[in-house]
Amino acid sequence: MEGNYYKEPLELKDFGSHCSLSEMDDFDLTRALEKPRQLKIERKRSFDERSMSELSTGYARHDSVLDMAHTPGSRSIVDTPLSYARNSFEPHPMVAEAWEALRRSMVFFRGQPVGTIAAYDHASEEVLNYDQVFVRDFVPSALAFLMNGEPDIVKNFLLKTLQLQGWEKRVDRFKLGEGVMPASFKVLHDPIRKTDTIIADFGESAIGRVAPVDSGFWWIILLRAYTKSTGDLTLSETPECQKGMRLILSLCLSEGFDTFPTLLCADGCSMVDRRMGVYGYPIEIQALFFMALRSALSMLKPDDEGREFIERIVKRLHALSFHMRNYFWLDFQQLNDIYRYKTEEYSHTAVNKFNVMPDSIPDWVFDFMPHRGGYFVGNVSPARMDFRWFSLGNCVSILSSLATPDQSMAIMDLLEHRWEELVGEMPLKICYPCIEGHEWRIVTGCDPKNTRWSYHNGGSWPVLLWTLTAACIKTGRPQIARRAIDLIESRLHRDCWPEYYDGKQGRYVGKQARKFQTWSIAGYLVAKMMLEDPSHIGMISLEEDKQMKPVIKRSASWTC
Ligand code: GLC
Repeated sequence: MEGNYYKEPLELKDFGSHCSLSEMDDFDLTRALEKPRQLKIERKRSFDERSMSELSTGYARHDSVLDMAHTPGSRSIVDTPLSYARNSFEPHPMVAEAWEALRRSMVFFRGQPVGTIAAYDHASEEVLNYDQVFVRDFVPSALAFLMNGEPDIVKNFLLKTLQLQGWEKRVDRFKLGEGVMPASFKVLHDPIRKTDTIIADFGESAIGRVAPVDSGFWWIILLRAYTKSTGDLTLSETPECQKGMRLILSLCLSEGFDTFPTLLCADGCSMVDRRMGVYGYPIEIQALFFMALRSALSMLKPDDEGREFIERIVKRLHALSFHMRNYFWLDFQQLNDIYRYKTEEYSHTAVNKFNVMPDSIPDWVFDFMPHRGGYFVGNVSPARMDFRWFSLGNCVSILSSLATPDQSMAIMDLLEHRWEELVGEMPLKICYPCIEGHEWRIVTGCDPKNTRWSYHNGGSWPVLLWTLTAACIKTGRPQIARRAIDLIESRLHRDCWPEYYDGKQGRYVGKQARKFQTWSIAGYLVAKMMLEDPSHIGMISLEEDKQMKPVIKRSASWTC
């Protein structure tokens, strides 16, 4: 990787007043499909993506931009899904079952739908916390409702979690940061008093007592999805939502002892919510951080309080994209370079900046790496490079355009090349490969749930289908998503929508997997709706910001 990979950061002082069109080109996405369907896209006013290029010349007014979005629907929750009506072809029978199961999982607070329960598994003896509404789990549910023209539940969820953010949060005697969003919440119904109350978990009840770093990022991403899908700017522009965003951002943009623009995290602070050796700078969090920063940039008002955040976001995005695209990226060429690294290099001329020991490269990665293809590795910190492949971080990198177009293509190339390993019989592995034996004992602390090829340790999670499908559509590879959906359709319903599958091929229903896991259900629906109507992807994807474009450089994955 060359050092001078990107253009100089923007001059922030150049702000003026200027409007610009969103870069989102939905028609490109339509073209990307093998057999494009007749799309009925209505042009309507929506909010724009404030890009850094716009910022160099001025702040764009949200409502001054013509953009693609869906006509907001106001359908009742018992209606036939709109996606049926839109298409002439017969829907898969699983779709109706999925909608029914998704609606069964809805949680109400004082008569209003506010979220979906994590799993509706009556057969399971242990409920644990699967009867709660998890912020991360609700994201695919929210997208399904938005795509089906039912935004109310999403709005209620955003407002309810915003209220919860305002709670004072403590773990024992320690007060948590103001901006922390809950991992989950639960509605308690008192049938006698006829009252509803909410309890929330900010990490103080979670296994390992870790605050969910991803929740705040998902919240911002969802607020943008809601705004983009409905064209309703009034929610994101409320003082409450603006403050909520600023509080989340304060937590991750504050100055400290950091020497990297990435976010330092504890193990268990995201989807992988227990010890799995992902502490440090996990790719999932970095990609979500990047996407949340870009989403916030498009929604923050440039008023007295917002302006400073906007400036900090712009600077951080430049540094973060540079760091990630250079130091987290691995392809054949880069692997070969690391293999030949010298160690103990001192000063600015060091090539091996993090002092990675070539001996620490695991054997599997040499065989795994195709000539064509690449991915963002799991983690990079001093003398520690986690070479594992993590699906969510890589898909979100594509969706947020953290990955350059070449890198996005290379990620998809690798997925195609390593289909057996990464997908096998059930999409999609949460990470590859698993850890076992002594390494498993040390890294997981002997976790019996995270044994090899199970759960977070190389297990296969159907929920990841929606991020994979979105990445496929964005990179113009819908056929890959279709292949994955075919696999899901051959089993998921029959197996009662498990949370995860086990085994090298993802062939077995997970050892302790819940059934009727809501995000497995919603993830399937979102994937189906996006393939049917690729313009949906606009709510969960951000186009590349031209100002962050690398100076012309071919990815090593294209040289062979
Ligand atoms: C598990 C998963 C976590 C998810 C939760 C609820 O703890 O690891 O990512 O949010 O279940 O489904």
